Amino acid sequence: MEMNIALLPGDGIGPEVIAQAVKVVNAVAKKFGHTITFKEAITGAAAIDAVGNPYPDATHEVCLASDAVLFGAIGDPRFDNDPSAKVRPEQGLLEMRKKLGLFSNVRPTFTFPSLLHKSPLKKERIEGTDLVFLRELTGGIYFGEPRGRNEQGTKAFDTCVYSVEEIERLARMGFEFAMKRRKLLTCVDKANVLATSRLWRETVQRLAPEYPEVTVEYEFVDAVAMRLVQWPKAYDVLITENLFGDILTDEASVISGSMGLMPSASLGLKTKLFEPIHGSYPQAAGKDIANPLAAVLSASMMFEYAFDLMDEANIISEVVNLSLEKGIVTEDLSEGEKAYKTSEVGDWLAEQIAKM
Ligand code: IPM
Ligand code: MN
Repeated sequence: MEMNIALLPGDGIGPEVIAQAVKVVNAVAKKFGHTITFKEAITGAAAIDAVGNPYPDATHEVCLASDAVLFGAIGDPRFDNDPSAKVRPEQGLLEMRKKLGLFSNVRPTFTFPSLLHKSPLKKERIEGTDLVFLRELTGGIYFGEPRGRNEQGTKAFDTCVYSVEEIERLARMGFEFAMKRRKLLTCVDKANVLATSRLWRETVQRLAPEYPEVTVEYEFVDAVAMRLVQWPKAYDVLITENLFGDILTDEASVISGSMGLMPSASLGLKTKLFEPIHGSYPQAAGKDIANPLAAVLSASMMFEYAFDLMDEANIISEVVNLSLEKGIVTEDLSEGEKAYKTSEVGDWLAEQIAKM
């Protein structure tokens, strides 16, 4: 297959971890006879520095013209500590999601057999956890109008808005995911308080009869926050609005033991995007110490969701598991044993794929 992949390394550790994902993608392509063309483009603080815009039109064109986007991270402490900054790197991320129509952010949480002891939760509670969040990504309070301040600057407001159409397309994707998995769908909302949540619940209830094999549960977001750490195995597919999803997926990501491990896919109307969920981790930038596995597993999700190539996706998960078993890991996971550099882990994974 011929594949055009846009590379958006972004800020912080983004470039380092994306470089390892590229090594792995190239190794997979070689093994399975695919031809891959990468095209790199700028985003985030790097793009603000270069052209004053965190998601330049030229970058958007590269994404639109590609079959998939591999994205690193966005964010820079120079902007976090300056509340008066007019342009922020994060705006680029939001604009990219909106312009590419990426309405569904797929964030899985699963455990790695060799890392169960790294979880902050007890082994018996987490062993075998396998859930996936579908976080709505282009609506809700992140985008709703009006937003801002009153004239005196003494009040600030954000607006949460959802249309039936926005809820329905995300919910349908949730039902489809559930059909391919354990057929359990949890609608996460705050329908006891919020009008938007009541519309979510109503919409999901209307769709449910179309998917009679799927068991649907409705659960308030505060209860889910609690049950996720008590018994994460209770969940299969969870659908939720943008802000609830932002918060709960960070919570869920540490179940596996390190935030440096969880990948994500953003799906929607145009080019699909794949991204580690760990963010830019500026303290580690340029040191060759960041864990590249979330980026590498995002490349695995790319083969699955952008190209429907399961063997290619699976070989990446296998080799990642092997690196964890053999201790070919960065310092966040090395536990006093030898810590490998980011680049060494990438090299090892690529070599291993060639041998398999
Ligand atoms: C994420 C991030 C972003 C979000 C930030 C950087 C805008 O936290 O992808 O979860 O809130 O969506
Ligand atoms: Mn987040």
